[in-house]
Amino acid sequence: MKGAMPSLLSRRNILLGGLGIAATATLSACTSSPVRADMPMRTFGPPAPMSPSQGQRLVEKTLSAKPVSLDLGGRTVSTWAYDSILPGPIVRATAGDFLRVTLDNQLPADTTIHWHGIRLRNAADGVPGMTQDPVSSGAKYVYEFTAPDPGTYFFHPHVGLQLDRGLYAPMIIDDPHEPGRYDAEWIVVLDDWIDGTGTTPDDVLKKLIADGGAASSGGMGGMDHGSGGMSMGAPPWGDTGDVIYPLFLINGKPPADPDVLTVKPGQRIRLRVINAASDTVFTVALGGHRLTITHSDGYAVEPTEVGAFYIGMGERYDAVVTVGDGAFPLVARPFGKTSGGQAMAVVRTSSGSSPSVDANPAELTGQVLIGSQLRPAAAAKLPAKAPDATVDLALQGSMKPYRWGMNGATFGKNQALTVKAGQRLRINATNHTMMTHPLHLHGHTFALPSGLRKDTVLMAPMQSVAIDLDADNAGDWMIHCHNIYHAEAGMMIALEYAK
Ligand code: C2O
Ligand code: CU
Repeated sequence: MKGAMPSLLSRRNILLGGLGIAATATLSACTSSPVRADMPMRTFGPPAPMSPSQGQRLVEKTLSAKPVSLDLGGRTVSTWAYDSILPGPIVRATAGDFLRVTLDNQLPADTTIHWHGIRLRNAADGVPGMTQDPVSSGAKYVYEFTAPDPGTYFFHPHVGLQLDRGLYAPMIIDDPHEPGRYDAEWIVVLDDWIDGTGTTPDDVLKKLIADGGAASSGGMGGMDHGSGGMSMGAPPWGDTGDVIYPLFLINGKPPADPDVLTVKPGQRIRLRVINAASDTVFTVALGGHRLTITHSDGYAVEPTEVGAFYIGMGERYDAVVTVGDGAFPLVARPFGKTSGGQAMAVVRTSSGSSPSVDANPAELTGQVLIGSQLRPAAAAKLPAKAPDATVDLALQGSMKPYRWGMNGATFGKNQALTVKAGQRLRINATNHTMMTHPLHLHGHTFALPSGLRKDTVLMAPMQSVAIDLDADNAGDWMIHCHNIYHAEAGMMIALEYAK
């Protein structure tokens, strides 16, 4: 990615030295393409229509996925987006509502929609070959599900690298019991942008694979990421991305033409920050302010005041802040990336000059919150209970060859994890690589050892974490890295309920 970096660690050594899983795991040799060519595809037919139960409110919407050309601060890109806007239109409902969302596929390719973080019924989860047939070009598909839990979510296709085009949008599930102690809400969607700037995400992956050389070495788990990222960005994340992006966006806009929230001085705003990027961990701060983090991945935390926080791909954080008087930069700085600048938006309460595109809030260089260290709010905590079953999950891979996998093989060749309905399952996840990976689970939230609820957790190089989940939502679900290039290269595994 960032050119050759001195490898302080001989990759084989680390992996084979004492990490049993990695040492024994051998990636089934991929031939010409490491992309999951032989992923098992089941067929489903059209979804069985459903209706809301009595008293359940119906929320209906149609989303058209289509090619579009967008102006990103003076630069025109051709890309794919929902309803031709970036981010796509928000889907908003109240917890317990019944959603009926029709996807109208006007793309020249198959697609689906995955409702990221929502504990919905399996058939609406949007994974082609696992929960539905792919929606072909020109076809429509109706997603029907109940959104049970309030929070900040988003949605995107679960096909190839389509997330790294413009196909993403926020989804907010409101809490009918929430006091709403704020004057304004601001949804802040972060993205890394390359599509239509002379290349496409598919070309980018081809190049990563080509630059990785022949996929000839046998073992999975080799790593060629030295300490390059570490020296630039300071711990804990090491290397966090593979792609060099020309632009970073907040709400579809670059810093030169920023999104602006206009409020009154002294007003309290609720930020809902969503990282919809494919390959970028951000550090987020609002210049001149401290933020009180209230939720992570939709679930309440003990309110925690911070100057800045990290957000990995697929994570969401909510925060409240009382704004001062002036024009303040909300900056999302790509972690460990030195080109493409930063993402920025502006909170404005009075006239006065706008922050410059390279605004550098002091908060970014102070202490930065690592979200997994937040404490759960008492009501959100997963009750302590001994696990009924335990499985291991190894995150493995390398840049050269460009190949990523879980439990010894790429997706489709690795063996699904299984759980019985009703069990508390503990997944002992270990990152056997020198990169950071956001680990994401569909259809459930999990709890970290503190009880903190998450559906996406950043795993630092060589870090292990035990995540616990209650198997209360039967079906076949994905667990994967939310770096979409890693996922597409094979860093996914299925979680199946024993039948
Ligand atoms: Cu947003 Cu399977 O992920
Ligand atoms: Cu990854």
